[in-house]
Amino acid sequence: MAIPSQIIQEITDKCDIVDLVSKYVRLKRSSGEYVGLCPFHGEKTPSFHVSADKQLYHCFGCGEGGTVINFVMKMENLSFLEAVKFLGERVGVAVPESTDYDDKIAKRKQRLYEINKEAGRFFYTSLGSDEGKVAREYFASRGLSKETVVKFGLGFAPYSWDKLLKHLKSKGFSEYEAIDAGLIVKGQKGSAYDRFRNRVMFPIFDIRGNLIAFGGRVLDDSKPKYLNTSDTPVFDKSSNLFALNLAKKSANKTFVVVEGYMDVITLHQYGIDTAVASLGTSLTDGHALLLKRYADEVVLCYDSDEAGIKAANRGMEILSRHDIKTKIITLPGSKDPDEFCRKNGVDAFKMAVSGAKNPVLYKIGNLKEKYDLSEPDQKVEFLKAAADELVKLNSIMEQEIYAKEISVLCDVSYESVMAQIKQKRKSYVRKEEKKELEATIRDLNQKTIVKDGKNKLLTETEEKLINLMFYSHQAYEYLSKKYKSEDFSEPLLGGLFEKICELKTDKSDIAESEFISNFPLEDSSRIAKILNIKNSYPDLVLAATQISQSLDKLKRDIRIKDLAKSHDMLKVKEMISARNRKED
Ligand code: UTP
Ligand code: MN
Repeated sequence: MAIPSQIIQEITDKCDIVDLVSKYVRLKRSSGEYVGLCPFHGEKTPSFHVSADKQLYHCFGCGEGGTVINFVMKMENLSFLEAVKFLGERVGVAVPESTDYDDKIAKRKQRLYEINKEAGRFFYTSLGSDEGKVAREYFASRGLSKETVVKFGLGFAPYSWDKLLKHLKSKGFSEYEAIDAGLIVKGQKGSAYDRFRNRVMFPIFDIRGNLIAFGGRVLDDSKPKYLNTSDTPVFDKSSNLFALNLAKKSANKTFVVVEGYMDVITLHQYGIDTAVASLGTSLTDGHALLLKRYADEVVLCYDSDEAGIKAANRGMEILSRHDIKTKIITLPGSKDPDEFCRKNGVDAFKMAVSGAKNPVLYKIGNLKEKYDLSEPDQKVEFLKAAADELVKLNSIMEQEIYAKEISVLCDVSYESVMAQIKQKRKSYVRKEEKKELEATIRDLNQKTIVKDGKNKLLTETEEKLINLMFYSHQAYEYLSKKYKSEDFSEPLLGGLFEKICELKTDKSDIAESEFISNFPLEDSSRIAKILNIKNSYPDLVLAATQISQSLDKLKRDIRIKDLAKSHDMLKVKEMISARNRKED
């Protein structure tokens, strides 16, 4: 039994697609539609269109498109059933529970959530048992209260090769499912054993509160310090943040991103309930998208070592790419936030957060550490390096503000700092433009990928137009005036165009079989396929105009790409700026 269609209908009726997509993508209104940067492929110029009238989205860059349901399936990595439930919850439409929905992926994921939950219970119970004494002592030695242990569902994986496996089997899970969840490993000789042994356990939840993975820490100094579940169908470390399930509930919208599990837990214990951590990886676009949904501002608080500074720099870059307001704090004298709070108290940490530096000041602060400003020649080097940072600021006002700070710091005139910035600005802008141009060309190359001599997107777009012409007289009138058969990228498509023009002289419909019989037999199935393209456009003429516009854009992009190959960069630049002006 599938989900009753009236329920799906009710959910899609109640979810506004513009509203939903806006949670993930910044949309701008543009001639009756909304456009933005496609979340499904990297791009610099917006190709992602959302139509409020049709309640559909479509990316002209990568071809992704569909309804609200398709959107959350892709965005949240959900199966159809999960997506319907997800949206149902949002709009208050109950989706009846049924075990016989035909949804294999959903079932597999459901089993993974269940087995993880059972494992979580097992670890938690072990922590409370006799053998868990060492782990309880360990958590206590790290200053965690009993409440914190319960709140985070912390646990202990006992020192045993098969205790968890036996437990899971007794609860009706198969060895295969336990391996699928990453809880059990199969050794070279084929025997299965528990992956986490003699470790304190940190359960990881997704934003919906499903237990999706674990991190396990040794109790001593042995290596590896942490062992984490590797990626599974329910866990992708680049799109999950530890404790986001808790942080998203906070009224505070300033999120604190730290490196480690223990940092997060200590901060929460001290009342900083917006602390989250990326799971042993540096910040990714997936993390940024998540943060953007829940936070107004992100404070990066990485460890005070070289790696932490690198991570902060990279993190700032990624967050700024997603237009997220970002600040950075450093915690002098402590290696990480956990140690800092325990040494100096949470008020000191809160002070640090409220004094967090914006990216420019942070970078200048780091630079300052590298030079001895009492030495004149080092001062010069510092000033040059600082100017290289300030040159990146696009607003003169900002340049001036920081130039003033630096001039005071180095006891040189403000004018000379500004002069240095101005001098470097030109070549910086040139370099940036070049980078931008290269990125746009890469972008175009992606949009116009050619496979077996065919550009898939181009072919598909032309095929859609042929289909519309065939079935709608008004679309035919519009398109037959606009195009000639030579405009099509393949002789067959041009031929179809010509034949439709020939047969559509009166307003009557053309019979499919008769139409197809005008062409060689070997083309029949392709033509039938073109005529069978399903379209759900409520207004065929509007669809014809829009699709033909995107065809024109695509062809223009292909022309730019070909020009770029011929290295006529001046012309390319001109065409790209004309292109970008139009799309704003
Ligand atoms: P840290 O080494 O800074 O650990 O790694 P920590 O969080 O301060 O741990 P404690 O305080 O010694 O207990 C930061 C994060 O990097 C990941 C973990 O997510 C850890 O929390 N990591 C670290 C691993 O995944 N594996 C490792 O072996 C080490
Ligand atoms: Mn630590």
